[in-house]
Amino acid sequence: MHLDAIPRLSLGFLPTPLEAMDRLGGELGIELRVKRDDFTGFGGGGNKVRKLEYLMADAVSRGVKVVITTGGHQSNHARMTAAAARKFGMKPILVLRGNSPAVMQGNLLLDHLLGAEIDFLDPDAYFGEVGPRMQKHADEALARGETPYIIPLGGASALGAMGYVSAVRELSEQYAAAGQAAPDLIVTPVGSGGTLAGLLIGCAMFWPDTKVAGIAVSGSAVPFSERIAVMANAGAELIGFDRRFAPSDLRIETGYVGEAYAVPSPDGNEAIVRVARSEGVFLDPVYTGKAMAGLIDCVKRGSIAQGSRVVFIHCGGSPALFPHAELLTRDRVN
Ligand SMILES: Cc1ncc(COP(=O)(O)O)c(C=O)c1O
Repeated sequence: MHLDAIPRLSLGFLPTPLEAMDRLGGELGIELRVKRDDFTGFGGGGNKVRKLEYLMADAVSRGVKVVITTGGHQSNHARMTAAAARKFGMKPILVLRGNSPAVMQGNLLLDHLLGAEIDFLDPDAYFGEVGPRMQKHADEALARGETPYIIPLGGASALGAMGYVSAVRELSEQYAAAGQAAPDLIVTPVGSGGTLAGLLIGCAMFWPDTKVAGIAVSGSAVPFSERIAVMANAGAELIGFDRRFAPSDLRIETGYVGEAYAVPSPDGNEAIVRVARSEGVFLDPVYTGKAMAGLIDCVKRGSIAQGSRVVFIHCGGSPALFPHAELLTRDRVN
């Protein structure tokens, strides 16, 4: 089956802008562009909108009434999924890692405004309980006669990855329209890995000379490269693309997580401030700040060569800045 034959519902404000980061790129000695997927728009925007165009098409075709997904406390994926569920008249249920907070800030505030049912799981119990808990919500929906649809963490599936296969096609069209050769490298944050899986397939299809580097923002029980190669292979198979990926084909930098997933890191925070003050662009403390810190360090260490032509995927996430207002304003002078 061809990419265009996979059912897709339009959600995003696409194509998203491709912007030069000349000041930061000049300081680093590379040609740096940013793909503004924080401006996919729908439901506050972010990378998951592209995945949801495919996942929601599948859900709608199955007559789904209840959409269930999971993520961290400040999950951008959960917020966008809740918005997409509402758009198609479905009820969103979010199983989130974290206890019920005193104040609903950032993405939690938006989840609340969307009327999502939120099931908070204690962080220590989360990994053991999340699967059965989502299944329990699905079973309860079925018992009410409502078709449920479980979207995995981060929308990370072969179908969801199609969003970033399409994104590479979109990028290649933007470069072609500007009369520019393909970039050397695409850099993206890696959480659940669906974005990276899609970028790998997309580059193999549309930009065969362009490499992809993922910057991990969390740990992973199964090594990232193994898990993501499986997803990329399933995605390639879905569209009849005759290419398979081995874990050794993947470049994933794992040194930039900091203390833990979703705990802001000093280098990530520095990157947030640097990009805001050099480019007027807001990153976030969970994903894109850490990923940009990784990109900057790779350039410093020479594993991204001077003069490289690099596209950074801005996957969104700025709502998660607000719960960290205190931390991020410690340098204030008045
Ligand atoms: C802002 C942002 N960046 C990056 C990612 C990671 O994307 P993926 O889960 O596809 O690896 C996410 C996932 O939730 C995200 O919200």
